[in-house]
Amino acid sequence: MKSKKLNDNGHLLSSDDLREKIHAANVELHRFEAKYYTLVHPEVYNPYEQKRIISTLKMIDNLMADVTPVKKALDFGAGTGNLTGKLLKMGYVVTAVDISAEMCSLLETTYKSYVNSKQLTVISSPIEDVNFDEGEFDLITCYSVLHHLPDYLGAIQKLSVFLKQGGVLYLDHEASPSYWNNEPRLLPHLLKHLYFHSNPILNTLYFQLVGISVPSLDYTMSDYWHKKDHHIDHEQIEHLFEKENFDSFTRKDYHLKGTWFPNPIFYLYKSMCKPEMSSWIAKK
Ligand SMILES: C[S@@+](CC[C@H](N)C(=O)[O-])C[C@H]1O[C@@H](n2cnc3c(N)ncnc32)[C@H](O)[C@@H]1O
Repeated sequence: MKSKKLNDNGHLLSSDDLREKIHAANVELHRFEAKYYTLVHPEVYNPYEQKRIISTLKMIDNLMADVTPVKKALDFGAGTGNLTGKLLKMGYVVTAVDISAEMCSLLETTYKSYVNSKQLTVISSPIEDVNFDEGEFDLITCYSVLHHLPDYLGAIQKLSVFLKQGGVLYLDHEASPSYWNNEPRLLPHLLKHLYFHSNPILNTLYFQLVGISVPSLDYTMSDYWHKKDHHIDHEQIEHLFEKENFDSFTRKDYHLKGTWFPNPIFYLYKSMCKPEMSSWIAKK
């Protein structure tokens, strides 16, 4: 029997309906967002976050020093190439998969020379429809993607099969468990609110100053698991690593800068509030 969930209007939704709705919302959102992607995601493209991603990838690369001379990576939900580009520059042979044809097309254009030299293959497909050999990849990366998937646990399970023994699965940019909880102490509670409310104001100001009008986008269905009442379950992810016999895994929580302009509250927020983001590095 198919599982049923309630939709936002309280109606029953089968898992197939939900899957279709989430996929369709992602295709639609990213069709539109592709050309603005870097600009509307300062939380990803600000120099502080970019530095953190690069140093994490280098640390992971060191973890796999003894795997193979030519390392193969799968960047799942690659978007316009945030991680793909860094992996290519590190010498990885990369397969980038994304459900959005527009994101894939931008990715191919940006990294055309790598496509021509066959260091990069771009596949426009949802995770459910791709298949690779067992143990094909040394590294699988998935940055800001899990909360977009109808069945993120099923996806992790599927990706684990494509990972070589000794290889690494790197998941990042998902809300931490404390993101959804109130800070118990008054001052951190107020600071958290102030920080999250001031970020969009600063970003709007930035767009006005650079003279760009960014339409407001609806993330309700596309970011399905980024909701207080249905969010990513950290415990289930970690159980899955155990079930799939990963040799080791660690979760790191961190604070995210969310603006192009520096937000003066950031360092105070960072020193007093629990981190709002999570990443995992799981070695098979
Ligand atoms: C927030 S973006 C992250 C992109 C990129 N990883 C980055 O770091 O900028 C999420 C990406 O996941 C893709 N995506 C969403 N659902 C997907 C699915 N079922 N299969 C493959 N890609 C998917 C979207 O098209 C989008 O490019």
